[in-house]
Amino acid sequence: MRDEVLVGKILEAVVKAVNVPVTLKTRTGWARAHRNGVAIARIAEASGIAALAMHGRTREDLYLGAAEYDTIAEVRAAISLPLWVNGDIDSPQKAAAVMRYTGANGVMIGRAAQGRPWIFREITHFLRTGRVMPAPERPELASIMLGHLRDLYAFYGAEQGLRIARKHLAWYARHQANATEFCARINTAADIDTQYRLAENHFQS
Ligand SMILES: Cc1cc2nc3c(=O)[nH]c(=O)nc-3n(C[C@H](O)[C@H](O)[C@H](O)COP(=O)(O)O)c2cc1C
Repeated sequence: MRDEVLVGKILEAVVKAVNVPVTLKTRTGWARAHRNGVAIARIAEASGIAALAMHGRTREDLYLGAAEYDTIAEVRAAISLPLWVNGDIDSPQKAAAVMRYTGANGVMIGRAAQGRPWIFREITHFLRTGRVMPAPERPELASIMLGHLRDLYAFYGAEQGLRIARKHLAWYARHQANATEFCARINTAADIDTQYRLAENHFQS
């Protein structure tokens, strides 16, 4: 983001090289004193990208402090591309409030979807009806989690899948009283069949 001319060159080159829509995700700038998100958004629009997502922090911020949405509201006023707002959105109510505040067309969710992939339908439901959807009951939670687990094993294979599944299972279990013991068991499971069985017993019990 520090080299705006280079940003334009990269985006134009990518847009020209592929025949699918190109989207861009950026932060609001590279440092708090240099929030050039609006300039980058204008460059992105001129280069022919299809949509922009913006995280309400600068590179210097890392994950510190709270995301700010004022720069994203300024971006909304400056460009007409579809715009997704990102950063610290962890509930349907917050998604609605941040969309209203910034004027963004949608939200992008990172951490709040870890172990809670149904957050997207909860947000859609709230935006459509203004009502909060009840959290999934145990059997549905188990079915979503086990489906995710099977997909991880199929995609990454037995060896890598076993390791990658650990963090996801920990996220699914993080609000449960016995999460620590459960994680200790699944982290030491020797193979995916054992890990799957442990997860199945835990979430179905
Ligand atoms: C596990 C993880 C991986 C991420 N990987 C990327 C990435 O590859 N590219 C990227 O632009 N942002 C990445 N991010 C940042 C997120 O896209 C997002 O901007 C950030 O987490 C703030 O949104 P949140 O508060 O909803 O998590 C990642 C975040 C997490 C938690």
